[in-house]
Amino acid sequence: MQIILLGAPGAGKGTQAKFISDHLSIPQISTGDMLRASVSKGTELGLKAKVLMEKGELVPDDLILDLVKDRISEKDCANGFLFDGFPRTLDQANALKDKGIKIDCVIEIMVDDDEIIQRMSGRRVHTASGRTYHIKYNPPKQENIDDETGEPLIQRPDDNEETVRKRLAIYHDQTSPLVDFYKKSSLVQNGNKYIEVNGVGDIATIQEQIKKAL
Ligand code: AP5
Repeated sequence: MQIILLGAPGAGKGTQAKFISDHLSIPQISTGDMLRASVSKGTELGLKAKVLMEKGELVPDDLILDLVKDRISEKDCANGFLFDGFPRTLDQANALKDKGIKIDCVIEIMVDDDEIIQRMSGRRVHTASGRTYHIKYNPPKQENIDDETGEPLIQRPDDNEETVRKRLAIYHDQTSPLVDFYKKSSLVQNGNKYIEVNGVGDIATIQEQIKKAL
């Protein structure tokens, strides 16, 4: 299965991606996590991305496409993959199409902006793995500590309200056109391959909805 997980920043893509990836035994490819890893390592890409990410802006398409092209050529992607946070512009989606990369299914997680703004202040992240928690809705077993490694959790620098509002505006402007792009696409015309999931409510219930739809 080659799947795209679509949704606004904070809709719960990362949270549900972990589950889908385990359920289908395919790797999660989060361009956000990959960029944050490059920022931590201080690579050339990381240095360029850091400034844009902190401002809530998108990283240029050519840099993202190089990153994704290399990642999907790795062995673990032979049986499929789950894109989380990619594609994010029509140019990125068209680049996938032009390269003949088949998409079996698009899952859209729908959450409105007010709910997202409230959620983001409570998000805590384990940087190395991308594991995500919420202080109220999905707390770690021990406050501010990752369940699996025992390492500290951080708050992302782009999770302050002003930057979240900017990320949402960019989502509505540049990423939401992908909803129509994939709904109309011949890839998803036959059968229920465009899955819309209500992303508000209990995380386990949303997981169940996705499992059923898949
Ligand atoms: P990226 O890391 O991809 O961020 P994003 O798309 O903005 O998405 P988030 O990671 O913020 O949210 P999410 O939907 O994964 O939500 P989560 O599961 O964590 O990108 C960051 C930046 O990198 C971009 O701004 C851009 O600069 C750059 N970038 C990345 N990809 C790019 C691309 N393709 N092109 C160009 N630039 C790119 O959940 C959020 C919180 O809510 C968590 O605390 C979680 O525990 C909680 N939560 C989850 N589900 C629920 C629920 N049902 N109820 C209550 N709380 C919940």
